[in-house]
Amino acid sequence: MSEKGKKKERALLDVVMDLLTRRGFIAQTAEIYGNGLAGFFDFLPNGMQLKRNIEKAWREFFVWSSIDPLVYEIEGSVVLPEEVLVASGHVSSFSDPLVSCSKCKAELRADHLLESQAAMKTEGMTVPQIQDALKKRGIACPECGGALAPVEEFNLMLKTDIGASGNAKRAYLRPETAQSIFCDYKRVYQTMRAQLPFGISQIGPSYRNEISPRQGLIRMRGFTQMEIEFFFDPEAPVHPGYESTRDVKIRLITRDVQRDEKTADDVVEITIGDAMEKGIFPNNIQAYFVGKVFQFYQSIGIPYEALRFRHLLETETPFYSKGNFDLEIKLDMGWKEAVGIAYRTNHDLTTHGKNSGSKLEADVQKPGQKEVRKVVPHVVEPSFGVERALYCVLEHAYRPGIEKGAEKEKESDREWDWFQIQPHVAPFSAMVYPLMKKPELTGKALELFGAIKKAGIPVFYDHAGQIGRRYARADEIGTPYCFTVDYQTAEDGTVTIRERDSMRQIRVPVAECVQVLQSLVGREKEFLDLGTPIN
Ligand code: ATP
Ligand code: GLY
Repeated sequence: MSEKGKKKERALLDVVMDLLTRRGFIAQTAEIYGNGLAGFFDFLPNGMQLKRNIEKAWREFFVWSSIDPLVYEIEGSVVLPEEVLVASGHVSSFSDPLVSCSKCKAELRADHLLESQAAMKTEGMTVPQIQDALKKRGIACPECGGALAPVEEFNLMLKTDIGASGNAKRAYLRPETAQSIFCDYKRVYQTMRAQLPFGISQIGPSYRNEISPRQGLIRMRGFTQMEIEFFFDPEAPVHPGYESTRDVKIRLITRDVQRDEKTADDVVEITIGDAMEKGIFPNNIQAYFVGKVFQFYQSIGIPYEALRFRHLLETETPFYSKGNFDLEIKLDMGWKEAVGIAYRTNHDLTTHGKNSGSKLEADVQKPGQKEVRKVVPHVVEPSFGVERALYCVLEHAYRPGIEKGAEKEKESDREWDWFQIQPHVAPFSAMVYPLMKKPELTGKALELFGAIKKAGIPVFYDHAGQIGRRYARADEIGTPYCFTVDYQTAEDGTVTIRERDSMRQIRVPVAECVQVLQSLVGREKEFLDLGTPIN
């Protein structure tokens, strides 16, 4: 890629991150102290609401909608004792290759350096191989041109000590939510009287001491994961919901094409059912999750063409894995992993069982048979990052404003940058305004605001400034619908609703507003069919 191309790509990340900072979505953690804490972000009211909406959409899609089989939800501790992470292998091998500059002391991911400086694919490369490749290509520090020190393994976990110093116990901030699920498996199985197959899910923070967290919300040191461990009997690897995903069409990079450099990025379009019949998935549970994940990202606003699954090569997966599929999303900076779906077999439960002395099993009984077998369940694990999803949604929803006074090319063009976010994901689905800050208008507007809020729809009240400016502010944070109470409201009991995307307006009776908004957010009806259009 040309140098100009690279700059343009970096610029879009910067543009979006800058808008998010200026528009009340995020702030660098502790930014009032110098540059703040690198790799950590606080979520401000607009960003927090957007994050909650993504989590809610996920919960509705993967947890609440699942009755057969059940998916339970837990909230585990962020701090885990050392034993847990020894058993999981994180203490010994959760590391990235670190290289530092002997002159300016910059610390860099050695594999990323090879990718950016030598356009190499580095998945599955060992530290000596990376070291060798850097040396052969004569790669120096990109910051100052200085010589690079030898590559080392750098463990990514953040350590802490618990208790008074004499008896302090070594612990870590969990690097993935999955490990709390494995530790709580037995209690959930027993107390919920669970039967295989079933899932345990969790949404919560994870921490990784990333070597150079330079990509905004894409690579953070403190982030939020949404994970499911789906437990099943390896002799009955069946997902009851599989049939509902058979016809889902996905874009896939198979293992075969990746073995040849020339075809390595070739995508096939294939249905889940066809891929299953071709033997691409180890079982229909993994097939089910691949289909559902593909649908989920489309539902929150990522276009079909900007999504692809990649079947990881054997060299990229751990020895116990029976198949990993990564969902990648096209961003201006390139394709980025947003979800990993791993068939981890029963490796985690077996190791935790052995190291803790607990029996992490389930009883299985074949229909019509008396015999009860004990099995250590296998798992398929879909693992999502919330902030990565959030950033991808925003980059795809970003619409740059046109120059002041320039002629419109599209009807939706406007002079300010805006976000075309899906109505159920946008920080606020609606804004409510009184046309002016006068008691005869604000009373009614506050009543409408209260009714929308009571219906559980995220809504914001804004009474300050000229109405056109308020519409622009709503667009700037992606609000799809604005309700304005004006003098006509007192006369005929109607309000104006303005649609973000078309900038068209309709008049609707106040009493119908909540229902109309529900239809709009649920995409049940067309905007202009829900009221009287205003010319
Ligand atoms: P990458 O190769 O980009 O570092 P990874 O392979 O380490 O990602 P996983 O360990 O599979 O990622 O983590 C599961 C999911 O958690 C990722 O798909 C991503 O959405 C999210 N995630 C992982 N690391 C980070 C991070 N540093 N910042 C934000 N999200 C992350
Ligand atoms: N639990 C999978 C991961 O975070 O890598």
